[in-house]
Formats: sequence, structure tokens, C-alpha cells
Amino acid sequence: MRVCIFNNYQEMSRIAAAIVGKCIQTKKGAVLGLATGSTPIGMYQELVRMHRSGELDFSQVITFNLDEYVGLSPLHPQSYHSFMQCHFFQHVNPPSNVHIPRGDAANLALECANYEAAMNQVGGIDIQILGIGSNGHIGFNEPGADAEGTTNVVKLSDCTIKSNARFFSSPNQVPGYAVSMGIKTILDKSKTILLLANGVDKAAAVRHMLTGEVTPAVPASLLRLHSDVTVLLDQAAAQELTERTFVSTESRSPIKFSFLKGKKDGKSTDVGRYRYYTFGNN
Ligand code: F6R
Repeated sequence: MRVCIFNNYQEMSRIAAAIVGKCIQTKKGAVLGLATGSTPIGMYQELVRMHRSGELDFSQVITFNLDEYVGLSPLHPQSYHSFMQCHFFQHVNPPSNVHIPRGDAANLALECANYEAAMNQVGGIDIQILGIGSNGHIGFNEPGADAEGTTNVVKLSDCTIKSNARFFSSPNQVPGYAVSMGIKTILDKSKTILLLANGVDKAAAVRHMLTGEVTPAVPASLLRLHSDVTVLLDQAAAQELTERTFVSTESRSPIKFSFLKGKKDGKSTDVGRYRYYTFGNN
């Protein structure tokens, strides 16, 4: 697992977009796993900027979103379909295939099965973007989630409903259920995982994810079972990590994030100052 700590949200977002952009540029037909929520908005803005400056073409890209609220039609302003249009898809050239689960499907079990089948058909996800809930959820896999779960209907925790109420007129308006890629789907179908976290609200969940017990009680900790995970943090989300966190793990030596220091127009790209560590199983 690689952990990269940036000075601020903007730097974190810029590097996240650079990593995703690299994947799109190097693989024709790249398959992106996408997240919603506040965290990846800066990354989407940077991807849009890269598209507008001619660096990125999305026409061959295939996308799969992590989740959608049950009961909301794609046109509902708070649906994740609307989120993706508003923050990303309407600003870039259309990807060849966009998949977002339908929370209003008449047969949700069939919707979930078809979603899994569609991911299998394209050979899995090249790079999966994740945020993290303050309770350690990934996707909408809440504490205590089934570690063997595939795409399914899941119940949102009170903590998540409270947190997401900021987007609705009241907590009562937040749907109680969502269709979410399951933990097993995320772990088995993603070739690379990029988890982003910013803000002090995420600090405890980040600490547990990286240093606590690997347990479904903190779903993000299960990412330590995956062989290719990069975690990008701003200072606030990293504030409960100490040098000792890294010293106490096996392969803690700082390494260079070299491919991002490529030259653009003959000049070195400034990626800002950051601290970078690897630890755990890769
Ligand atoms: C969204 C998702 C969630 C969010 C998490 C953090 O598709 O899967 O796991 O990543 O709830 O949300 P924000 O970024 O709003 O703090």
C-alpha cells in the first residue's frame, strides 16, 4: 500500500487526476471505477481541465460508478447519475460506455447481477477511485458489511444518512438504501485502487484503515488485502498518522513518485511538496 500526504486538497486532487489521466492515456479502452461525494470533485475538475487543454480524450473510456441511492430516478437532482453529469460527464467528450446502477430499477437483484456481468465483460476495472466515510465505509459498504459481498442493495448507516443530509432538504429525505458495489467486487475486480481522503472528519477512519485491525467493522481496512492500493491524503486527513505509524510497519522507506515528475513542454511538472510512504504488502 502506498500513502501519499499532500499539503492541501488541491494538490491531492491534481495528483489523483494525473494518475487517472495516465491510465487513460496509456490504455485504449481504460475502465474507470468512479466515486461520488465531495472528495473527488477536485479530481473531476482537474480531469475536465486536462480534457479542455487537449491532454485527455474520453471517447474510448468505459466507466462504472460505485453506487446509487435506491428509489431515486436518474433525473433526481441528488441522484448519483445527476452528480456525475453535473461534475464530470457534461464537461468532457462522452465516454464510450457509462455505467451507473439504477436505483429505481423494478428488479434490483437483476440490476445488481447485470452490473456484475457488465464489469466481467470488460475484464474488470483498471483503476477504482474510492472515497472513505467517516465511519470507514467504502462505496456504501457500511461497518459490519459482508466482506464477500458483490454488487447489492445495502442499508445506509445513521452516520452516513446524517452526513449526506447536507445534500437534501432534511435527513428524512435521504434514501435509507443504496445499490453499491460490494467489498468483494471492489477487491477482486479492481486492478488498481486509488483512495482519496481530505479533511479532519476522515482522520480517525484513515488511521484505522492503515493501522488498525483488518476487519469488516471498518470496511476500508479490508483494502489492505489488495495488492495495489494508493492512498492520497491531505494534511488534515493524515493528522492522526505519526512517523511512528510508518516506522512500525515493514517496508516503510520513502520512495519517489517519479512518473508524475515527467516533463511537459520541456519543463519539469511541479507536483507540489508531499511525503510518500509505502508499507504493508506492496
Ligand atoms: C460515493 C461513495 C462513498 C463516499 C464517502 C465519502 O460514491 O461511494 O463511499 O466516497 O461517503 O463521501 P464524501 O466524499 O462526500 O465525504
